[in-house]
Amino acid sequence: MNAFLIAGNWKMNGSGVSSHSLASQIISDIEKTPSLTDTCDFLCCPPHIYLLNIVGLADNSPLLVGGQDCSTETEGAFTGDISAPMLADCGAQYCIVGHSERRTIHGETSQQIAKKGECLKESGIKAIICVGETITERKAGKALDVIKEQLKTSIPSGFNAQDFIVAYEPVWAIGSGEAASPEDVAEMHRDIRNILKEMVDKGDTIRILYGGSVKPDNAGELAGIENVGGFLIGGASLKADSFLGIAKAAHDVLS
Ligand code: 13P
Repeated sequence: MNAFLIAGNWKMNGSGVSSHSLASQIISDIEKTPSLTDTCDFLCCPPHIYLLNIVGLADNSPLLVGGQDCSTETEGAFTGDISAPMLADCGAQYCIVGHSERRTIHGETSQQIAKKGECLKESGIKAIICVGETITERKAGKALDVIKEQLKTSIPSGFNAQDFIVAYEPVWAIGSGEAASPEDVAEMHRDIRNILKEMVDKGDTIRILYGGSVKPDNAGELAGIENVGGFLIGGASLKADSFLGIAKAAHDVLS
């Protein structure tokens, strides 16, 4: 069975110096408590411009490194974009796609996200496909319909279970300080599991991460929920203390 994935999405934060020191601190803290790796895998997704540095630092350490997004194309005249082969070339093993900040701020569609997923698969990178409903959709009782539609359209049709991870990030819980309730997480993760089982062979083996205001003090309860296979952490991943605090809370529940 997969270990529990503790993944940090650093978003557009930090500098060359601060990202180097954050990654070094995370690696040294994991190495100080090696039993954490019995239950948890660790991933950080720094801004692309710092990726190569962090990959160098994380070499031969328990910290995996990933991208935050990639282009729908593999090369050519796409100013400012970063392709999946480039991420692979830099040593990324995972890449987030379809984060709500990309869907909302950049108007990305599920079809584009599926295309990015295909590029990642071709480059040997595991896609972390994000889905999540807005508060308006939840209040209207449409959360499950929205998630189902996002899963059906964002997961490429040629994907197998080993090609991807799903991250359920309710938009209203991101950066709000208020995580979804354990009951809501349990219900949505169970529904996502059932949809994945219908869509993909071995869908019961796919990790489903929860993201949205995960902190050391709610991590234990959330980690114990069935079908929660890890966390995608924003704000609390920017400090080694809180990132490791989340891992320790999950470890205590899972070990
Ligand atoms: P926060 O943990 O800051 O709520 O962010 C979650 C997120 O967007 C991770 O991708």
